[in-house]
Amino acid sequence: MKLLDKVGREFSGYNILESGKRLFDRKPLQCSLYVTDQCNLDCVYCTEYDNSRPHPTLDDLKKWIRKIRELGTMRIALVGGEPLVHPKIVEIVRYCRQLGFATSLTTNGFLLTPKLVAELEEAGLQVMQISVDRMTPSPITKKSFKTVLPKLDYFRDSKISLHITGVICADTLPESQAVLETGLSRGIPTEVRLVHADPLHRFRVDRGPREELERFIDSMIERKRRGEKIHTSEAILNYQRSLLRGEHVEWTCMAGYKLFFVSAQGKFWVCSMVHTDKHIMDVTLDDLYANYRKKLCQEGCGVYCAVSASLLVEKPIGVLGREIIARAKRVPSMLSPSLGSRSSNVRALSSTQPDGAHKMNGGANGGPSTDDRVTSGKSA
Ligand SMILES: C[S@@+](CC[C@H](N)C(=O)[O-])C[C@H]1O[C@@H](n2cnc3c(N)ncnc32)[C@H](O)[C@@H]1O
Ligand code: SF4
Ligand code: SF4
Repeated sequence: MKLLDKVGREFSGYNILESGKRLFDRKPLQCSLYVTDQCNLDCVYCTEYDNSRPHPTLDDLKKWIRKIRELGTMRIALVGGEPLVHPKIVEIVRYCRQLGFATSLTTNGFLLTPKLVAELEEAGLQVMQISVDRMTPSPITKKSFKTVLPKLDYFRDSKISLHITGVICADTLPESQAVLETGLSRGIPTEVRLVHADPLHRFRVDRGPREELERFIDSMIERKRRGEKIHTSEAILNYQRSLLRGEHVEWTCMAGYKLFFVSAQGKFWVCSMVHTDKHIMDVTLDDLYANYRKKLCQEGCGVYCAVSASLLVEKPIGVLGREIIARAKRVPSMLSPSLGSRSSNVRALSSTQPDGAHKMNGGANGGPSTDDRVTSGKSA
């Protein structure tokens, strides 16, 4: 890829110009759409899949997607369950792009094939988040580089911008560092984030020792400041550190207003944790605006995409300014490949590239941030 394209990508992750409009008006910035509840895995910490429910039809999904766009939403994040188990996922992506959405998809990556990646790219998918928790599978989570690493090669010349996100809990913490290094060493923006509670405020897995978790978050903050491709913003890393310390963070939750969720039954959800029975087809801009308020479930909230969008809308200069500075620090490493981050453990793991050194596309390419949740909330 040409140097100018690479540099352009470094600055396009927030889709700055388009999203800018949403910082000043009353319309929503982004929607996470559950394209199915079904999943091919069963991560113990997850409450967001249900294999007893049928996939929504393509016709229904198109109707909901049109409505989401009519509300003025700019970005759509396709989530689940596992979006790739929906048999019409390519058509869903294509339709979102036809309507002008910046479009992302979050996947466990298990069903990726070279053909599917090519089809998703041709349909216009801009951003893909692959979730990877460990180097090898465990009884808690099978999402590991053992399965996913060979699949990263499918993206070598792809226009789809890839990033990797892992969940940190006691089970994954001993491997979180290696997950981070493996992603970063291949030039892929990577983050690992604290596990969040379920809607009843229960943690289904042990979260791990607080001091160790805090040290790890601190190290990501430091690396982010040095310009490494830590995928999340410094604001969200600081937020996670405050969560661990039990510190109060001042913010106003914009979920249900600037960002919202639509379930695989077409229901309007304030966020992944706070559900309503209202159908998306009945939602108005006034309904959305009514959610512009502090919420009782804010303290300890782990819906990171909501915190992130809320902080961006509340403090755009601070959040964007830091992100632009962090990305600017990456430019020298693009000019000299030897300055890019490398790690020997990736060489050991890479099944297809003996030098383990090839870089993926890595930026966010003007698309939406994929859905990134963090902690706990309440069911409405
Ligand atoms: C619900 S999954 C759906 C998409 C896809 N199945 C996947 O795993 O990427 C979306 C994201 O939420 C994360 N997630 C699920 N439960 C979580 C929890 N309790 N705490 C933190 N992240 C969680 C997953 O790891 C994944 O990155
Ligand atoms: S986190 Fe994703 S892969 Fe894991 S069970 Fe939940 S929906 Fe499935
Ligand atoms: S759980 Fe978090 S994102 Fe959801 S409504 Fe409550 S504060 Fe907002």
